[in-house]
Parts: sequence; C-alpha cells; structure tokens
Amino acid sequence: MSIIAKQKPTTTQTLQQKKAQGEKIVSLTAYDYTTARLLDTAGVDFLLVGDSLAMTVLGHSNTLSVTMDEMLHHVKAVVRGTKKALVVADMPFMSYTTNHATAIENAGRFIQEGQCGAIKMEGAHPQVLAVIDHLTRIGIPVMGHLGFTPQSVNTLGGFKVQGKSIKAAKQLLEEARQLQAAGVFAVVLEMVPVEVASFITEQLTVPTIGIGSGNQCDGQILVVDDFLGRYPDLSPRFVRKYLHLDTLTQHAVEEYGKDIRSGAFPDNTSEAFRFSPEFLPQLLKEWQTVALQNEDTSNIKRVV
Ligand code: KIV
Repeated sequence: MSIIAKQKPTTTQTLQQKKAQGEKIVSLTAYDYTTARLLDTAGVDFLLVGDSLAMTVLGHSNTLSVTMDEMLHHVKAVVRGTKKALVVADMPFMSYTTNHATAIENAGRFIQEGQCGAIKMEGAHPQVLAVIDHLTRIGIPVMGHLGFTPQSVNTLGGFKVQGKSIKAAKQLLEEARQLQAAGVFAVVLEMVPVEVASFITEQLTVPTIGIGSGNQCDGQILVVDDFLGRYPDLSPRFVRKYLHLDTLTQHAVEEYGKDIRSGAFPDNTSEAFRFSPEFLPQLLKEWQTVALQNEDTSNIKRVV
C-alpha cells in the first residue's frame, strides 16, 4: 500500500452528509490550474468554475457574454489542478434555456470534455426544472442557484437583494422546493435576506450555499478574486477580503521595477546560470579572434 494515504474525492453526497452532520461547507470559485491547486490543497470542499469569470478574468461588465467554449477552457484547467474538491461548472447564459436538447448536450460537454463532477444552473423556470430533472436522471448532478441570479441582471434591474417582501420570500421558498424536487444536490442562495435564507435552509434537505445571504446557510461561497482582494470593479458589502492582493501586487511590482533599474535583480550567482570559469580564457581568446576579424572589439569589453 502507498505510504501517502489516497485522498477521498469530495462528492455531492459528501456535501449532503455535511449538512446532515451540521458541518459547514467551504467553497470558492476558481478559473485556472494554479489557483485550483492552491485552493484544493488548502481544503476547499467544492470549486465552482463560475460564469463570474466573464467579469473577473475576461473583463466584461456582467456574466452574460461568456460562451460554452470559453467556460469549458477554464473548467478543464481547474479540473487539472484539483485532486480532492468537487469541481462544479457553471452553465453560461443561453446554454440551457433555448431548448431542452441543447441544454442536455451542453451539460454533457462539461462532464465528458471538461471532466468536472457537477454543473450549476440559475433559476427555477419550468424549462430549467425540466432540464434538471432530465440531467439528474441520466447521472449529471446539478446545483441550483436562486435569489440574485446574475444572468437575469437585466430583468432584475441591477445587482439587487432578492426576497425582501413576503410575496418574494414565499416565491423563493417555493422555487427552492421545486429545485429540490427536480433533483438538485445543493442550492446557491445569492443576496437573500438572512431570515429568508435561514428558513429555506431549514426547509430543504439538500444544502444551501450562501453568498451575501448570512451565516445560517449550510455553506458559503465567494468569488475568489473578491476573497483575494484583487477585483477592483465591484465591492458588494457581503465580500470579506481575506487578502489585499491589489495593494500587495502593486507594491511587489514597484519593488521589482526598483531592483531591475538598480541591477539588484537578477542576482548573477543565485538567480542566473554561469559559464564554466575554466572555459572562460579560451572563449575570450576565440571571441577576440572573431572580433579582430570583424574589426569590432565592443563585445569583448562587455565580457571582460
Ligand atoms: O458565477 C459565480 O461565481 C457564481 C457564484 C457567485 C455563486 O455563480
């Protein structure tokens, strides 16, 4: 048997067991190999390749522009960097709502080509519920997403808290129940009042994952660039920055520039490769001959 204990990968069942045992679920988004590796090693339960990458990686002003092929490119990178965490791929805008067959096909691409463990979809429109029902029956685990659903930013009228009125809160609970009945293994609740998120969490048997919805959800997720403090364009109140990579990066680049300009970087002993000293006299002699032949001695002076 190997000395290194084989890591048990996190599955959708692991997340459901955590809820049953009252153990919180820890998750972040990830969009690339290196970050996925770091987060996975640090013990994150699941990594969401969120369509938020449209904003944080690609610089769009919302999530609507990212395509299936662009998402797939990032899903593959995250899967390559992950050993233990469950990788969930976000179905982008228009990839699951035009027709049933396309939705199934696109979800299948994430599993087959991207090799991730699950997919996520926003909303609880009857068409979406039908797709979720179909996917879960054919072996594709689906995570739901309610509350503020960024792909509906244009109909919701901006980045706004959802479920604030009694009617809206009841509607959210009903949608959460419908998603659970359709077979989701977890539901993201984004920008939902604490009390409403807490009630939905109590009512569901599947875990709720909060973002801007208070600490009563079964788990939490943040966009990794917000968490690291390196995304400057939006700063919602629910984001807690665990690092300030923006100022740290700025400072590091200033130091790097200073070192290059002063000649302190790179250090020729520890950060470069040296020519063997015993070959140097011979090399200089041969260079001298070449230079004399070309009547140019500038390169010799530089080496000496
Ligand atoms: O795209 C994303 O990053 C998300 C999270 C905010 C849940 O959907």
